[in-house]
Amino acid sequence: MSREPDARTREPVTAAEYLRWGEQRLREAGVHLGHGTDAPLDEAAALVLHAAGLPFDAAPAVLDRPLTAEQQQRARMLIERRIAERVPAPYLTGEAWFAGLRFAVDARVLVPRSPIAELIVDGYAPWVATDALERVLDLCTGSGCIGIATAVHLPWVEVDASDLSADALALAADNVAAHGVADRVRLVQSDLFDALGGRQYDLIVSNPPYVDAADMAGLPAEYRHEPALALAAGSDGLDLVLRILREAAAHLTAQGALICEVGNSWVALEQRCPGVPFTWLEFEYGASEVFVLTRDELVTHAAAFR
Ligand SMILES: C[S@@+](CC[C@H](N)C(=O)[O-])C[C@H]1O[C@@H](n2cnc3c(N)ncnc32)[C@H](O)[C@@H]1O
Repeated sequence: MSREPDARTREPVTAAEYLRWGEQRLREAGVHLGHGTDAPLDEAAALVLHAAGLPFDAAPAVLDRPLTAEQQQRARMLIERRIAERVPAPYLTGEAWFAGLRFAVDARVLVPRSPIAELIVDGYAPWVATDALERVLDLCTGSGCIGIATAVHLPWVEVDASDLSADALALAADNVAAHGVADRVRLVQSDLFDALGGRQYDLIVSNPPYVDAADMAGLPAEYRHEPALALAAGSDGLDLVLRILREAAAHLTAQGALICEVGNSWVALEQRCPGVPFTWLEFEYGASEVFVLTRDELVTHAAAFR
């Protein structure tokens, strides 16, 4: 009489079994999480479900079906590459989710993960008057995620999305087309504000490079797959942020505001600019530090940014 092999000891076959196998492999290998997931099971799910062509919310009955030989091979390959090469999962699957939207990603751009996504979904309220927003600048746009998500969630807004990297802008153009917002999102190659002329915006939103030299030296291997241009910002992490603080007011309308992510460099920023009334935002997900300053505050405290 033949007996079914014990599902706990035999090789995985179903999607659910591959999820558990992948979770265990990733946990044992001690991969660093931080590119869209914060638990080995979620990381395994991103890779295995992609290999199987299944959605994130696949029903349990679907997960209990056997994967084809080809799907199994793909799932193993993705999990093993994730471990051996320490590649962030979104670079293996070619996609990342941000503000509820899918973005194509590859090693030309930072993997989207900014908590600014939460602000976008809320229409940037209460930090700006959402209904009055007409023109938004996404400075340092990378994949285009912040600018494109802004255009999708606020369908009356016009967005300029700029980056120094031609490679990043080429991928951002694919994302603009995929989301059907080419009529309202203009991509601009620019060293911060340099190529933007005298254009003014109701909101400047930016996730610039802000990693300081000490943090760069100690980055887990996963982050070394991302462009250094997207991360490194000098000894104290403030090279780009201080330039933005100096130049933003000239590009804001009278009621305009700057929203900027600075991560761990918030400590250096507070020390460098004492007395500046940074409003530090709180998020449900993601721990990175983000401040808001109004145009009036930028003008009043301009001397602190010199
Ligand atoms: C931290 S990544 C942010 C990407 C995207 N906004 C996001 O949140 O995922 C920073 C981006 O700034 C760009 N960058 C670096 N230096 C720049 C500069 N001087 N002017 C404009 N963009 C710059 C990089 O190419 C990179 O795409």
